[in-house]
Amino acid sequence: MLASEAGARARALAASRLGLDFQERRQADLERGLLRAWRASPLPTPEAYLAWLEALPDENPEWGRLAGWLTVGETYFFRDRACVEALEREVLPSLIAARRAEGIPRLRLWSAGCSTGEEPCTLAILLDRLLPDRAAWSITVLATDINLEALESARRGLYREWALRETPAWTREKYFRRRDAQTFELDPGVRRMAAFAPLNLAADIYPSMLTNTSSMDLILCRNVLMYFTRGAQRAAVARLRRALAPGGWLVASPAEASTELFRPLAPVNFPGAIFYRNGPASAPPLPRTWEEEPARPPWPGPLPPVEIPAAPIPPAAPLESVLPGNEEKAPEPAPGTETLLQQGRSLAGRGELEKARRLCEAALAQERLDAEANLLLAEICLEQGEIAAALEALRTAIYLAPDSVPAHFLLGGILLREGDHKRGRRAMETVARLLEPAPPGEVVPGSDGLTAGRLLETARAHLDLQAMDGRGDARRAWKPEEVR
Ligand SMILES: C[S@@+](CC[C@H](N)C(=O)[O-])C[C@H]1O[C@@H](n2cnc3c(N)ncnc32)[C@H](O)[C@@H]1O
Repeated sequence: MLASEAGARARALAASRLGLDFQERRQADLERGLLRAWRASPLPTPEAYLAWLEALPDENPEWGRLAGWLTVGETYFFRDRACVEALEREVLPSLIAARRAEGIPRLRLWSAGCSTGEEPCTLAILLDRLLPDRAAWSITVLATDINLEALESARRGLYREWALRETPAWTREKYFRRRDAQTFELDPGVRRMAAFAPLNLAADIYPSMLTNTSSMDLILCRNVLMYFTRGAQRAAVARLRRALAPGGWLVASPAEASTELFRPLAPVNFPGAIFYRNGPASAPPLPRTWEEEPARPPWPGPLPPVEIPAAPIPPAAPLESVLPGNEEKAPEPAPGTETLLQQGRSLAGRGELEKARRLCEAALAQERLDAEANLLLAEICLEQGEIAAALEALRTAIYLAPDSVPAHFLLGGILLREGDHKRGRRAMETVARLLEPAPPGEVVPGSDGLTAGRLLETARAHLDLQAMDGRGDARRAWKPEEVR
């Protein structure tokens, strides 16, 4: 039992570093977790461990380990039937239909706080069912968590029967294979649709093209915010909202749904579930694609108009006037590379990837050997699902600017997601080496405002996760040099 002064310090630490809320009534949970974390450390007393934590920089992997002791990882496939039905019958079909109509077969989904992977893999199963032509689509199912042990388990794709308690029998048969009396293996093709990555939702590390957290069509952040302090909830929701593409959806669990917290996203009611939507006012109709749909209450009608918060919008004229072939229409001289890139970055940040790419290519037509233009092109290609093109642009960017932290970070992220662990690890090691001497609060140039400390924290978490591969044990992964 911690002394009351130490208890207060522990509460403050959990809130400021992890966003976690341990009011007096949850003090016992906090102490239990903290004592377990301390026992796994080489420090002599809980107080010494606490004092060590207080001096620990954000980028130290111990925060991820501590989170594993302090958070609840309970999850299962097809959790919350009303939510899954709304996804399967309305939201995913509407996104798919909108993309088909635009001729852009691309979807970007994110399970934020994914624990051991049941939630993102449920999304992957739903997409597999809804997209008979899945191979023709570029699909991102980003799956992030602060708990590295949970992520490591997610990557293995092995589940106990209990995790399938809400999974319909035919889905079990189609997507799972029994390994032994206790264990089921998820179809590797479906599991590989999810890209697992460490990310602290209480940290200013998203949205960013570098962490692949921009322009999301759908974000599930369920049963996570309920553990956060009010301030951390607001900050996380504000960031998640900025991570949405126009028309994108944010989903919390029913217990967390609060119009006030999610404002200015528009609440949209489905039977038994409330989702939040990021404009636009002219929402596409929600098609009915589910053949065996049982009788249900009628769809509540067109979505209400949504006010889109004012964002800095680059002037509309330059895009047309600067693109090659249109020069004669431009009364002004064509903007320089820097202006094109600024506008391209701004459009990309708002999810207008095609326009952003055209501006970026116009910049490259002016200056083929511009490292920043190549980096931006790589980021856009990545969001468009063109991995080979992204890698090529990144190699050029790194050739031109070998010390570019964002370029190495992006490269590492892509390679790790693509399963090239060796080269991915090497790229993340380069990021760590380049960032270690930098002051943690310094903004890294070309990184959407991310700080050196936050990027270093994320790069190290990636490396830690790699080091755990197959061992499944972050808690005992103490290295003597970590006790400084
Ligand atoms: C109860 S699980 C939710 C799993 C899944 N979303 C669901 O609804 O079934 C909560 C997850 O939130 C994660 N979490 C807690 N604090 C976090 C933070 N600051 N950043 C990222 N993930 C966090 C925990 O590690 C845990 O895996």
